[in-house]
Amino acid sequence: MKKAFITGISGQDGSYLAENLINHGYSVYGLIRRQSVSENQTYRLNHIFDDVKLFYGDMTDLSSLFGIIKKVEPDIIFNLAAQSHVRISFDMPIFTAQTNAIGMINLLEAVRIINHNIRVYQASSSEMFGNNCDPDGFQRETTTMNPVSPYGCSKLFAYNLCKNYRNSYDMFITNGILFNHESPRRGENFVTNKVAKIAVEIKKEKKNFLSLGNLKATRDWGHAKDYVDAMRRIMELDAPDDFVCASGKSHSVKDLCKYVFEKLGMDYKSHILVDEKYFRPEELNDLKGDCSKLKKATDWQPKYTFESMLDEMVDYWMNK
Ligand code: GDD
Repeated sequence: MKKAFITGISGQDGSYLAENLINHGYSVYGLIRRQSVSENQTYRLNHIFDDVKLFYGDMTDLSSLFGIIKKVEPDIIFNLAAQSHVRISFDMPIFTAQTNAIGMINLLEAVRIINHNIRVYQASSSEMFGNNCDPDGFQRETTTMNPVSPYGCSKLFAYNLCKNYRNSYDMFITNGILFNHESPRRGENFVTNKVAKIAVEIKKEKKNFLSLGNLKATRDWGHAKDYVDAMRRIMELDAPDDFVCASGKSHSVKDLCKYVFEKLGMDYKSHILVDEKYFRPEELNDLKGDCSKLKKATDWQPKYTFESMLDEMVDYWMNK
């Protein structure tokens, strides 16, 4: 039985990945942080709690990573731990860099020193592209990266470091460059789940308005459950590489609101307020990914569409 160690296991992707790996015969270990309010910290793992082994640690604490890797002796490490909120990275740029960038050096050094044959997956991000795209409007592995947020800069540092360690030390390190991916398990301060949750509250007459920031930005949204399957597939290939994972379709935040409110029989224009506090100092305007390389290498095919993903999220809040 192969052993997989997931940092960030209590998050949206970590919990879906843990399920996916268990279903594919892995034993799963995970890193969680000590929090002063620990209640509900592992709620996304409740249904598989007895099937995973959790360890306290932190990406900024090299000693904890060393101790866990020595004890667990994993075959694969998926690094999903991050300060993952782009706007909040402007409020907490140093913490974001410490966790996402320095944390990755900590992990790579621990692997290099303990056992450099452990495979490492790095959760890289489409946020690394910034406002660059190819002439056909898509971003792909070869598109120039020019991030526009402390989060994007920290992820680009880690991405480059992974390539550097791969080439320098002949390590199996793969970057998944994932475009936005959502689900009912998404944090409620990301735009998809915020819209789904508050639109349902408006429908149930618990709220009147939804305050949002930039409605014009477009994103390439897929379902997290599909994307964690891509993570596993690229880690089971014969050689490490970098892969974009995306739906290839992009929608604006306004389109997202229109779809969700119409599904609930409402007009989004009557319920949305624009609040400047949700704007970013510098915005990434448009994202649309080309994942031909991933599909060719792994036969990956997403099961969800933008619409079926939002249907699931709205149904989740309706039934809650
Ligand atoms: N969060 C949020 N809240 N975003 C809003 C809001 C709001 O009230 N109003 C408009 N937006 C816009 C943002 O300005 C952005 O253009 C878009 O909605 C998506 O925002 P998020 O859902 O916060 O996601 P993100 O694109 O910034 O980042 C996510 O995707 C990246 C991959 O491209 C995160 O999951 C990152 O961790 C991930 O790497």
